[in-house]
Amino acid sequence: MRTLVVNAAQLLTMAGPARPRRGAQMRSVGLVRRGAVLIDGGKILAAGSHDLVSSHELASGARRLDAGGRVVLPGFVDSHAHPVFAGPRLQDFESRLQGQSYAAIAAQGGGILSTVQGVRGATQDALAQSLRERAGRFLECGTTTLEAKSGYGLDLASELKMLRVIRAANEAGPLELIPTFLGAHAVPGEWKQDREGYLRCVIEEMLPAVAAERLAAFVDIFCEVGFFSVEQSARLFAAAARAGLRPKVHAEQLTRSGSLAMAVGAGAVSVDHLDCLDDSDLALLARADAVACLVPGSNYFLAKPYPPARRLVDIGAAVALATDFNPGTCPCWDMRTILSIATSQMKMTPEEALVAATINGAWALGLGDSHGSLEPGKVADLLCYDAEDYREIPYYFGAPQAAWTMKRGVVVHSKGEIRL
Ligand code: NIG
Ligand code: FE
Repeated sequence: MRTLVVNAAQLLTMAGPARPRRGAQMRSVGLVRRGAVLIDGGKILAAGSHDLVSSHELASGARRLDAGGRVVLPGFVDSHAHPVFAGPRLQDFESRLQGQSYAAIAAQGGGILSTVQGVRGATQDALAQSLRERAGRFLECGTTTLEAKSGYGLDLASELKMLRVIRAANEAGPLELIPTFLGAHAVPGEWKQDREGYLRCVIEEMLPAVAAERLAAFVDIFCEVGFFSVEQSARLFAAAARAGLRPKVHAEQLTRSGSLAMAVGAGAVSVDHLDCLDDSDLALLARADAVACLVPGSNYFLAKPYPPARRLVDIGAAVALATDFNPGTCPCWDMRTILSIATSQMKMTPEEALVAATINGAWALGLGDSHGSLEPGKVADLLCYDAEDYREIPYYFGAPQAAWTMKRGVVVHSKGEIRL
């Protein structure tokens, strides 16, 4: 079935070179006024001006989907998230409001380890059910591809349980989930006296099992004081490379450790958080292939200073924006909120923020050749936003306004009646 999306007052194609956008390239959203998109078999055949696309030889006979004079853009690619967990962390929330730090709460056995208890105690079915519900909320907000990390199991069986839940949800669709193995998220209580032993267990037991079942595309580690060191992270990445998994890293989040430079050297696809950078880190990111994935929703929620997004863009780094959706540092799944924070607090322009949330998010997941822009041959993941001007997307906040969301050519969420 072919579909012709018509009547987009503004179409943002994000078309451009087949690599992450950096520096001034991040201002280019591929704006087409009165745009259209022709779709066949879940893929884009053509995207551009109405006159051009509607004269395509396969446009006649296509079912028409009227965008109603709104903005149409690629679905958001949220490249950093922890969407599998049992419940919220309200006690941590209150403790922080009373002045305790995230690190202090974690050191007392709260934080990540309290979510670990919940995940270990939950059945695979219960986790699957809650992930299904959350997936619907991401689609409602216009996210069509989402990274999904493990990291709340922290033993072999529970990490596999999380990753199997992610795999099943991805197969069921329609939200596309890209799995990341985060067994090195924290050291669980039973390994408290032998932290090194736990890392060996991650490397020698969990990683091979994850790789054997092909349950993850990436490996990640929380490289931070009280969690894992740079040297331990390097060992994990070396083992992951042998198992065919590319690294991602929670880097320089609460303190600066040198994790960013190590991860770039290890071929990381993205380096994430980056709250505590020095000038040498900025210079490195200006020429690194790794995408700098910023998750300012976590800074907002923890009331911490924001990463230096403006300087990163100006120096020529490839910046992505993601939610970091998780129960501890960012209980927010709405990319619009992240765009609002990125513009108003970090001074990214609307164009840079939208590029960071689509095509650069795709590159942060190694999917830049197939996702993140509206170009022939790419997946037909589209978002019709209830706005006449794309700058309204980061401008309004507090209410996500996806008019409809399309995954692989099928409308999977719509706010009202779809006009066909
Ligand atoms: O990205 N920093 C480590 N991991 C998460 C938080 C996880 C949690 O607190 O549950 C983050 O901020
Ligand atoms: Fe995270």
